[in-house]
Amino acid sequence: MVNINELVDVAGAVQSKRVFWDQEVYEQELERVFGRCWLFLTHESQIPQPGDFVTAYMGEDKVIVVRQRDGSIKVFLNSCTHRGNQVCHADSGNAKAFTCSYHGWSFGMDGELVALPLEQSAYYNRLDKSQWGLREVAKVDSYRGFVFGCFDPQAPTLAEYLGEMGWYLDTWMDGTGGAELIGPPMKSILRCNWKVPSENFIGDGYHVGWTHAAAIKVLGGPLAGLAGNAEIPFEDAGMQITSRHGHGFGVIWDGVGLLHDDPAYREYASAKAPEVAEKLGDWRAKFYMGHWNAGIFPNCSYLYGTNTFKVWNPRGPNEIEVWTWTLVEKAMSPELKREIVKQAIHTFGTAGTLESDDGENMETCTWSNRGPQTRKGLMNAQMGQLNDTEHPDLPGIVGKSFIGETSYRGFYRFWAELMQVESWEAVRANDATWKEPLIRGAANAKKERAA
Ligand code: FES
Ligand SMILES: [Fe+2]
Repeated sequence: MVNINELVDVAGAVQSKRVFWDQEVYEQELERVFGRCWLFLTHESQIPQPGDFVTAYMGEDKVIVVRQRDGSIKVFLNSCTHRGNQVCHADSGNAKAFTCSYHGWSFGMDGELVALPLEQSAYYNRLDKSQWGLREVAKVDSYRGFVFGCFDPQAPTLAEYLGEMGWYLDTWMDGTGGAELIGPPMKSILRCNWKVPSENFIGDGYHVGWTHAAAIKVLGGPLAGLAGNAEIPFEDAGMQITSRHGHGFGVIWDGVGLLHDDPAYREYASAKAPEVAEKLGDWRAKFYMGHWNAGIFPNCSYLYGTNTFKVWNPRGPNEIEVWTWTLVEKAMSPELKREIVKQAIHTFGTAGTLESDDGENMETCTWSNRGPQTRKGLMNAQMGQLNDTEHPDLPGIVGKSFIGETSYRGFYRFWAELMQVESWEAVRANDATWKEPLIRGAANAKKERAA
């Protein structure tokens, strides 16, 4: 078992470089993080009819997500109970049954083993088919149409897992009648640890003006001022949030649609903002007009305002398979949705202008830790720590600038907690005190600055 206290100092806001490399850390993550958390699978709109399915990953486990006859959704391991072959090789489709390509065992859309070749002549009708259905994932639920699965029967409900983050997510998932994803997802491989892009999306406003300097200059518009950190906006330009289960985001006020080179989306959002204010209040109307870099713990990230929605599927400690959907609102016209897909591919698609800026940094952040001496080092996530605080109106912990590392700190706080405890019961026992090390870290940072 890895000693997590050696890897993460929550109040000190530092992490060991080992978190990006070690096989041992990774194996523990597969069990304790991916084996316990709610993991994003698909959007309901991708599987509207009975028999509609998509295949997906939960950590390294392959799964099939199937719409049932009664409208519910079930998720199964994509692994034949005979000799372990993958039973479904398609990315998506509609099926009455999944028939294994190896010896022909056939499973219904409800996962039951329904037929197998030579059942009478080779098994003498003695195989109890009811015992050999596909293994079902313990929990499946959707939040505002976004479908998640969880292997751990002891886990909280999806709504509880999202917790305070649900309050923020409702801004765009519910404020205007709902969001949806346009797929199928684009797919690509990056040779990096899954946490490098997860932490980047959840909390890294800092790299935008530097890593993306050339791209944002070329794209033009108000954000071009960030290029080279020339006109870096600080305290009033946005904020960062972290929450109980490691979810978080940074927001740039009034940044919605600013990376698009077409004003249509911004115009749409401006017209809708009063509706959001009426339904959810002024704070969320303000968030609605913002640009968010965000993460749903552990490995789902999105940019609200640039319409990109991603999952970083781990493939070992130093490789990921990136899946990218386009995020739109249901109420948008088909023309606007089409335009947004184009814009999203342009910026954060597989070969997008901004996406390709990030890849090399992510790979190098991972592979430089191959060196055992390098790996003994620490990484700093202290930016803006002295401003982390509770807020009178907003749930979670709030950092007062969008350039800061508040949501990094919250991400690793929960990561460390999950990696250490034996069960969800032990996580629940910390519910009342989870903010304590973050607030203490902020107080220490303030004292140090004053001294
Ligand atoms: S492995 Fe699937 S039928 Fe034999
Ligand atoms: Fe980036």
